[in-house]
Amino acid sequence: VELERARFLVSVEGRAALEGLPPGLEQLSPTALASALRRMHAPAGAAALAEQVTLRQRARRRFGEDLPFLYTQRGLEMMTHPLVARRRARRLAALGMPVADLTAGLGGDAGAFAAAGAETVAVERDASTAVLAKANVPGVDVVVGDARRPPVRLERCAVFVDPSRRGAAGRRFDPAAFEPSWEVAVARATEGRAGVIKAPPGMEARHFPPRAEVEYVQVGRSMREAVAWVGEGAVAGLRRAVLLPAGAEVDSTMPEAGGEPVAPGAFIFDPESCVTLAGLVRQLAARLGASLLDSRLGYLTSPAPAFDPLAATFEVLDVVPFAVARLKRRLAERRWAPEEIRRRAFPVEPDELRRLLGRLEGEPVTLLCATVRGDRLVFVARRLEAANCEGA
Ligand SMILES: C[S@@+](CC[C@H](N)C(=O)[O-])C[C@H]1O[C@@H](n2cnc3c(N)ncnc32)[C@H](O)[C@@H]1O
Repeated sequence: VELERARFLVSVEGRAALEGLPPGLEQLSPTALASALRRMHAPAGAAALAEQVTLRQRARRRFGEDLPFLYTQRGLEMMTHPLVARRRARRLAALGMPVADLTAGLGGDAGAFAAAGAETVAVERDASTAVLAKANVPGVDVVVGDARRPPVRLERCAVFVDPSRRGAAGRRFDPAAFEPSWEVAVARATEGRAGVIKAPPGMEARHFPPRAEVEYVQVGRSMREAVAWVGEGAVAGLRRAVLLPAGAEVDSTMPEAGGEPVAPGAFIFDPESCVTLAGLVRQLAARLGASLLDSRLGYLTSPAPAFDPLAATFEVLDVVPFAVARLKRRLAERRWAPEEIRRRAFPVEPDELRRLLGRLEGEPVTLLCATVRGDRLVFVARRLEAANCEGA
């Protein structure tokens, strides 16, 4: 069925049907959409078109842009965010060698490689996915094949592998259960002149090849991937945190802040997830002129404000040793209403704390909850943006 559906969508008839769809269909309920399309098309075609309308709308919401792609639900779930794909593609294309993408999927990465100017061949095991990828990325040579025995010579290529992590049983975190397995992915990537292997953001560092460079990439508030670079162009052992679309980066070659934790100052910084996952909190601290509050904690502090896209900056209004009744009393007295609650190394969940505090009215504040050298503290704070702090 999937293969038939894919063939219909890429056929002259299917393309014309898709292009001829009236605007606004995505606003309809699923039943209304299905019946509207059945009035215009035979049942199989109507179902295929309805699926595209729904998935295109989902892709638009997820990526914040329109791609002229044909989707499957699974393929869309697995697709690399276009901002991440483009950034990777620019770096790969700059190596000046052909690229072999051994797990094409719908072509999110392969299309970006070709658009960045790299001669690209893409391998995909699933025949119906390959049919759609061919249509999605016309500049790419898409072949049906198995990454375990790729029908491409890898020695002169940059090899990219993005294994599937969602099986029938949902997300898989066991790298041996990835498809292709992590071991195969690493083996293939190291056969190329250069290699790039994409992993879930929470992948443990021990799984990466020992001399790999590893990037932790975040888009907006959402962590997208940890990606290992090996071979030509990779800096062995380097770790880098990347935040898109800002393009802000910090890496392990940058100077680190000193080791000793200090008492909380007037300002606290909360680094983005990409920084903490990459283990680059000390490097970011040095850039902000800040110090660690606790050697095991992500929060940083300093007597002066500073701004960086890789951290949120807060002005501390008060520090309350944690006890629900005391905190609630202090907030009520000062007429502070917690708008946001963040925590690091703190046993109470933000939602639970919000429930315990009940309704409070007043000036919106952020609560930063942390265990600092054994003490549970709540910093009542005000978020500062670079633009509204004079002289910053
Ligand atoms: C995570 S998706 C790739 C998504 C792609 N990077 C994108 O942005 O669109 C992984 C793809 O690898 C394919 N795959 C799984 N095992 C494979 C194998 N052994 N050889 C080739 N492809 C395989 C799956 O069918 C799936 O389409």
